[in-house]
Amino acid sequence: MDLLNNKKVVAVVCNQWGDTGKGKLVDLISDWADVIVRGTGGANAGHTIIVGDQKFAFHLIPSGILRDVNGKTNVIGRGVAFDPRVLIEEINVLENNGIRVQNLKISHEAPLVLPFHLLLDRYKDQSEKVGTTGRGIGPLYTDNVSRVGLFVNDLLNPELFKEKLEKYYETKSLLLKGMNKNKVKKILSHNHLLNGYFYNPKTLIDFDKLTKLYLENYAEQLAPFITNTGRLVQQAKKSGKNILLEGAQGILLSIDYGTTKYQTSSDCSIEGLAKGSGLKESDVDYVFGITKAFYMTRVGNGPFPTEFGGRKSEIYCSEGHTETEEKAKYDNIEDLLNSNNEFEQGIGIRLQGGEYGATTKRTRRNGWLDLVALKYAMKTNGPNLTLTKVDVLTGVNKIKLCVGYKYLGEQINYGGKTLRKNDIITEFPRFSEVLYNCQPIYETYNGWNEDISGLKNYSELPSNVKKIVKKIEEFTEGNVDFISVGPDREQTIFR
Ligand code: GDP
Ligand code: IMO
Ligand code: MG
Repeated sequence: MDLLNNKKVVAVVCNQWGDTGKGKLVDLISDWADVIVRGTGGANAGHTIIVGDQKFAFHLIPSGILRDVNGKTNVIGRGVAFDPRVLIEEINVLENNGIRVQNLKISHEAPLVLPFHLLLDRYKDQSEKVGTTGRGIGPLYTDNVSRVGLFVNDLLNPELFKEKLEKYYETKSLLLKGMNKNKVKKILSHNHLLNGYFYNPKTLIDFDKLTKLYLENYAEQLAPFITNTGRLVQQAKKSGKNILLEGAQGILLSIDYGTTKYQTSSDCSIEGLAKGSGLKESDVDYVFGITKAFYMTRVGNGPFPTEFGGRKSEIYCSEGHTETEEKAKYDNIEDLLNSNNEFEQGIGIRLQGGEYGATTKRTRRNGWLDLVALKYAMKTNGPNLTLTKVDVLTGVNKIKLCVGYKYLGEQINYGGKTLRKNDIITEFPRFSEVLYNCQPIYETYNGWNEDISGLKNYSELPSNVKKIVKKIEEFTEGNVDFISVGPDREQTIFR
């Protein structure tokens, strides 16, 4: 990868709502890297890596871990919502596949996920309906901002851990008492992640079990990996090592830049990633802005103007349909891909792209590539694009790109300007009450039928693909540097 020759710190971030193929890119680039760092999010992430006939889906461990055999250091940074249970599970999966985790480092500063966070996340989402992953992310970061909560470092100090945990639950007692016991019981009984070690019918917490689990089980296994990773990463930078930062989620889900309410609780932009890794944004020499193309996906609720089938699809995807069910019901993918009914076309593209959640197995909502949203994302994440999953739309006759919106809502003051019904919008409005009322304006392009998944050179791509790439570059004033045409490491075109 010539582009990396004169680079020292590079980052992989997503310009959409996640699931764009960050895992694949990180695995590929980690061949170049000496140090690979996760800096944001937690076990809500699902990063898939395919190497030959082996498939891994990682949530917490950096995606460079498959190269650990070559002595690379993988770091879980200070910005990560750290759930020890998930990490131990991932280490076990790797070891069962013959990969010994050796050079893994966990930040002593990372906030520590407790079973309570998972419970509260699931409890709250029943009424808030964001459609979270249920991994405790919102409550964990809320505790961090509220200055309560524990850190990885507390695992190393048993007495302090117990003291802090007791105080922590004191601050939560009112909340706990106010929770509907039947609802809590239901969540716990339906959930293997929470069951058994946490629930006490009277107090809701079983202290003894919890401290035992964290201090004897988790702390003992993980203590050798815990260190000051901020110092480690900064020293690596000073000594000229190649550093790769692995983003999670996508900027449109960011707490600071994402679509309001329907967000995650960390900043998944390049800024949040650098900070959560122990560096500054200005330390980063090159940002891979990962962008699914020429369609995009979203998991969970929230506005998605270009969604195939609009609200119908949003509701359908929240109903718990599965890949097995859709595969059994629809065996005519080719017809669906060109159906006049966009909802059905969306099902065809979901099946063709394998768009089912790596963490929650949910059907991913999908829609045409939104260039207005992409341009907004690139203001923060920068001009360099990596387009992924371009192979998925092979066989689709007409491809649409969203180049603006028509506002269809009630009159509203947005950022000091009056927005009226039928106004044309060309800048992405991140407030969901506005974005939910935006109807996309499209430009239509011809598709292609050739199999592109084995191509190695940009020049070999069908001219219709190149025309769309050109439009993306012109509209966003960006550069498409890489094109991914399949899930495997090898299926990547360097421009
Ligand atoms: P991440 O969360 O950004 O790492 O992405 P996910 O792993 O959740 O989802 C991306 C999915 O697309 C995974 O199943 C990948 O194996 C797959 N994938 C990545 N790049 C490509 C590509 O270029 N073409 C195809 N067909 N699949 C891809
Ligand atoms: P990767 O790293 C896609 C979404 C959830 C929900 C919202 C809030 O694989 O791209 P949370 O559990 O974080 O509080 O949920 O964010 N979400 C993701 N969607 N990919 C992800 O990660 C996501 N992580 C969170 O579906 O809508
Ligand atoms: Mg994912």
